[in-house]
Amino acid sequence: MDRFASSPRLMIVSDLDHTMVDHHDPENLSILRFNALWEAKYRHDSLLVFSTGRSPTLYKQLRSEKPMLTPDITIMSVGTEITYGNEMVPDEGWVDFLNNKWDKKIVSEETSKFSELTMQSETEQRQHKASFYVEKEKAQEVMKTLSERLVQRGLDVKIIYSGGVDLDILPKGAGKGQALAYLLTKLKASGKLPKNTLACGDSGNDAELFTIPDVHGVMVKNAQEELLQWHAENAKNNPKIIHATERCAAGIIEAIGHFKLGPNVSSRNETDLLDAKLDHFDPAYEVVKFYLLLERWRRAEVENAEVYLGRLKSVCSPSGVFVHPSGVEQSLHDCINKLKDCCGDKKDKQYRVWVDQVFPSQIDSDTWIVKFKKWEQTGEEQHGCLTTVVVSSKGVKPTEGFTWVHVHQTWIDGTTQNTRNDWFL
Ligand code: GLC
Ligand code: MG
Repeated sequence: MDRFASSPRLMIVSDLDHTMVDHHDPENLSILRFNALWEAKYRHDSLLVFSTGRSPTLYKQLRSEKPMLTPDITIMSVGTEITYGNEMVPDEGWVDFLNNKWDKKIVSEETSKFSELTMQSETEQRQHKASFYVEKEKAQEVMKTLSERLVQRGLDVKIIYSGGVDLDILPKGAGKGQALAYLLTKLKASGKLPKNTLACGDSGNDAELFTIPDVHGVMVKNAQEELLQWHAENAKNNPKIIHATERCAAGIIEAIGHFKLGPNVSSRNETDLLDAKLDHFDPAYEVVKFYLLLERWRRAEVENAEVYLGRLKSVCSPSGVFVHPSGVEQSLHDCINKLKDCCGDKKDKQYRVWVDQVFPSQIDSDTWIVKFKKWEQTGEEQHGCLTTVVVSSKGVKPTEGFTWVHVHQTWIDGTTQNTRNDWFL
């Protein structure tokens, strides 16, 4: 969080499964819409926090399957593990705090006495989390008895039921809500309390998120019965919590609009993107837009190809250079000319492009360096490139956008190299 000199404008704290990630949206459209909005309008001055029930292992698996952005902070294992940044540095203070009145061995002993409980996979058993499956009809009774027995054994625990199937046992001070409260206290102490916070969720373990003071909340349209019931019993008249009319990430965008937390139109929703204009220079918006235009070109969603290509070319400086990850250099205009050969080459191939962690920095009165990760997905296959772009506003009006003067890419570790005929910016 060192990149913030003062308070972030917005902090979004979102659950992943069935909230940020829609497992019933094979095209991933709603998360891709959110991504474009976040990178164009929020990334530079706002905080993105993912708060998931998943362990680090299953969280990483999800990231390799879905077009997910990189969060600033990752809260995993139902609020029992907090990590920071790309490197996912753990919050040791949180770990110490959770050790209070917690003994995993006693939890194992007591839970083994319940035949109704089936243990989840080994990856989901964590230092401060024991997880099981239990049928809906039996859940309430098991939770009550188990809780009494653990109290008798001197533990202070919290038992949470989610998704009509998962039962988690955590230290009393843990949970998604407590982890959020801890984060807010930490941010406040360093003078970086976000101006607004929006919590987003769909199931039982998200309910706590909506109990933290001064936090806006959205239960996405597809919220689980147990969360809606919790809301009806505990927070029905709280105007800070809404039940969205849209599913998953689209519901998050809806809440941004509802609570007037900032811009809520994603460039992905703009049909006339080619002619979309801003009245000020905005390098992050420009990068998001450029790659969306490229995606549409390759997906064969473009009407007047000549005009389209001409416009892409017009934003590139005639002396501009593209350095390919392999080290080969090419003029930007040649790159655009080559795009002719790949018009519609990804038609019907589930091809998507998105950018992650777009960070512009202005280096003089009319020049910006923009650093970001560009990802491409074709079906199941993903490639990533760390990309640096130099853009200039010299001699152009804000409504005309920038001139791209330099593009430099490096493969991101672990992604396979594109074949030669598949490399375009
Ligand atoms: C995730 C975790 C699981 C947990 C559930 C509900 O699915 O993998 O262990 O029980 O979230 O919190
Ligand atoms: Mg969920």
